[in-house]
Amino acid sequence: MSLPELIRDPAAWQRRCTAARDGGTRIALVPTMGYLHQGHLSLMREARRRADEGGRPGLSLATIFVNPTQFGPTEDLARYPRDLQGDLAKCGAAGVDMVLAPDNPGAVYPKDFQTWVDFTEVSKGLCGDRRPGHFRGVATVVAKLFGLSRPHVALFGEKDWQQLRVLQRMAVDLDMGVEVVGMPIVREADGLAMSSRNAYLTPEERGRAVAISRALGDARRRAGEGERDAAALSRGIQAAVEAAGMRVDYVELVHPERLRPVEHAVPGTRALVAAFLGRTRLIDNLALP
Ligand code: PAJ
Repeated sequence: MSLPELIRDPAAWQRRCTAARDGGTRIALVPTMGYLHQGHLSLMREARRRADEGGRPGLSLATIFVNPTQFGPTEDLARYPRDLQGDLAKCGAAGVDMVLAPDNPGAVYPKDFQTWVDFTEVSKGLCGDRRPGHFRGVATVVAKLFGLSRPHVALFGEKDWQQLRVLQRMAVDLDMGVEVVGMPIVREADGLAMSSRNAYLTPEERGRAVAISRALGDARRRAGEGERDAAALSRGIQAAVEAAGMRVDYVELVHPERLRPVEHAVPGTRALVAAFLGRTRLIDNLALP
């Protein structure tokens, strides 16, 4: 297993990607904020597979950039965990060819930067309401990473369900010509959704964190047994998460694409949770049967 090539300068990265694309190379991209875990690596392995789909070796790309514009003023930008050397080794093992890791935000957002991606509906509700400006920051940086990397396909996790829908909408609405693919949530053995932010949890909090995925699993079971009332299912999730000592940010059952709340759960209805465990904000979601 070899280390991927590390590129710091977005302009140099864009030259390399443009030359590859112009030469007919198929390009797959995985944007991340680093501190990689198996969830990220599952996207990278799929990127490797999809890059090579054309019958000849393609280019599998990852980016590592803690994007300041998607963090609110009271959020965890300053303490977000970082480990570039460890991340590069993991990328190499997952078949990534090249990693873009800009070493300062000014390389991505120069002084005169003034263009932003905004949404009318899909970024409303859920995390969009609780984290004002978050999806504007996410979509803008991903639009830039698409422009720099020229990918045919880009992979994102279903763990961030609203983010995935926002980025699929953006790629279609702005004719970006990038296929935005969602990948299943990778979980710890006890069910906790993997997240770089799990590193914030004390061992005691880590034990309680599993209540979120358990509560979602219970809702899925109840829905499977015939409970269709969204309010009843939400109340059950909320009570279980609170019983584990967490502060619920939201529990919602929504239409999987439009993300509007539903009254009756139908197959595919998505149940989403955001909750604070101490200072750490955790999110998770799943599809109801
Ligand atoms: P980050 O939180 O580093 O996540 C990078 C990608 O990994 C996202 O697509 C996310 O959904 C996916 N991911 C995270 N945990 C996962 C899990 N347990 N299973 C499967 N996939 C998982 O999301 C971001 O970074 C940023 O917002 C970004 C898109 C890079 C823009 O800055």
